Amino acid sequence: MIAEKSKSTELLERRKKVVANGVGVFNRATVQDAKGAIITDADGRALIDFAGGIGVVNAGHCPEPVVKAIQEQAAKYLHTSFNVVSYEPYVELCEKLIEILPHGNETKAMLVSTGAEAVENAIKIARQATGRQAVIGFSEAYHGRTMMAMTLTSKIGYKIGCGPFAPEVYRLRFPNFYLYGKGLEYDDFINQEIAQLEMSTQNLVDPNTVAAIILEAVQGEGGFNPIPKAYLKALRTHCDKYGIMLIIDEVQSGFCRTGEWASWQHYGVTPDISTYAKSMGSGMPIAAVLGRKEVMDAAAAGSIGGTYIGNPVCCVAALATIKLMEELDLNSKAKEIADTINRRFKTLQLEHNSIGDVRGLGAMIGIEFVKHNDTSQPNTALCAEIVQRCSDDGLIIISAGIEKNIIRILSPLVITDEQLERGLDILESAITSAINRSI
Ligand SMILES: Cc1ncc(COP(=O)(O)O)c(C=O)c1O
Repeated sequence: MIAEKSKSTELLERRKKVVANGVGVFNRATVQDAKGAIITDADGRALIDFAGGIGVVNAGHCPEPVVKAIQEQAAKYLHTSFNVVSYEPYVELCEKLIEILPHGNETKAMLVSTGAEAVENAIKIARQATGRQAVIGFSEAYHGRTMMAMTLTSKIGYKIGCGPFAPEVYRLRFPNFYLYGKGLEYDDFINQEIAQLEMSTQNLVDPNTVAAIILEAVQGEGGFNPIPKAYLKALRTHCDKYGIMLIIDEVQSGFCRTGEWASWQHYGVTPDISTYAKSMGSGMPIAAVLGRKEVMDAAAAGSIGGTYIGNPVCCVAALATIKLMEELDLNSKAKEIADTINRRFKTLQLEHNSIGDVRGLGAMIGIEFVKHNDTSQPNTALCAEIVQRCSDDGLIIISAGIEKNIIRILSPLVITDEQLERGLDILESAITSAINRSI
C-alpha cells in the first residue's frame, strides 16, 4: 500500500516546481492558520513558533485588535499613495513613533514598506544631510537584499553573483568578543576595537568623506551579537567628532524584542537616524525611518518615498500593534521570557562543550554551537540537525550566523508560560539528542 502524502509534503513539492530556487527555505513548516505563538500546519498539526516569521510577530500571530483594525481600514480605503492624497493613519503612526522613539528634542519620521527600503532611505538621508558619500558598515551585518542594503550586508552567501555592489561602502570588524577576542581580557579587547575605530580614519577611509556609520546594536542574522556598551558610546563620540551620522538598524531588534522599543534605548546612546520594520506591523509590510528633525529634513522633496509608502492598512495595523504592546507591557514580558530561556540554556551550556555561547539582549537570544569548545570551529551540521529535530517534534526554529551555527529564539512575546516551557523542552531535547549522536 502506498502511504498517502501529507498536505505539507504536497505543498512543498508544488512550491519546488514553480517557486524560484533562490527563495530560501529556512524551515520546512507549512501553515493553514496561526494564532498567538501557535502555527497550525497544512495537515492540522499544531506547531510552537520560535521563529515568529523572522522576528515579525512579537505581538503574536493575528492579534485580534490588529486584525480588526485592518478589516475596518480595508473597508474605508486601501490606497491613495501618501504622496498624492494624505491620510491620518500615516500621520498618527509617525506621531506615535516619535513619542516612543525620540531622537533628541525634535524628531521626524517617514514610512516605507520593508526593512531594506528603510535602510536604503536612511543612507540617502544621511548622504543629503552631510553632503558626503562614504558609508561604513560592520562584519556579520545584515541589512537586507536591495542593492545598498545587500552591499552593507556582510555574508557572502546572500550576495553571490549579485555584484557590482554599491561603491563607497567600507567595513569595520564588529566587536564580537566571542568570535574575535581569543586570548584577550574583555576590556582589553574592547579597547583594542575602539583603537581600531580611530585607526580607520588613517587606514580605511577619510572620515571627512563619511556620511554614515550603520550598525545593528544587536546583530540579528549575524548571530544575535549585542554591541558592547563602551564601543557604542565610542562610536557616538567618533561620529560627533567627525560629523558622521550614526544609523542604528532596529529592523530585527525593535518593538519589544529586547525589552525596549529599540535596543539602543538600553545603551544611553541616541542615533541620528534609526530604522524599523518587522514586528512594528505584526506581519503587514510597514517600515519606518526616524531621525533628528534637521537630519530628516535635509532630504530634498521627492528624493525619499515611493508609491506604497506607509500603506493605510499597514499603518493602522502598526498603530494597533503598538497599542497592544503597551497594554500587554511586552517590554516587561520580553525580560521575563529572557530570564526563563537564559536560566535553562546557561545550565545546559555547562553540560555540553558543543554549546559555545548563550547570549543576547532581552528575549533576542542566540545559542552558538561549536566543535570542541573552540570558538573558531563552528558546528553548522549540529545546528542544522537541531532545527530538523525540533521541526519533527513540533517546534519551528531557525538558525543564524555567517556559518549558520547559531540557534536564534524569536518566539512571539505573547507566548504563554506553558507554550514557552514546552518549546524549550523540545529544543533542549533536540540539542541533547543531536550532541549525543555526534559524539
Ligand atoms: C537588521 C535588519 N535590517 C534589515 C533587514 C531587511 O528587512 P526586510 O527583509 O524587511 O527587507 C533585516 C531582515 O531580516 C534585518 O534583520
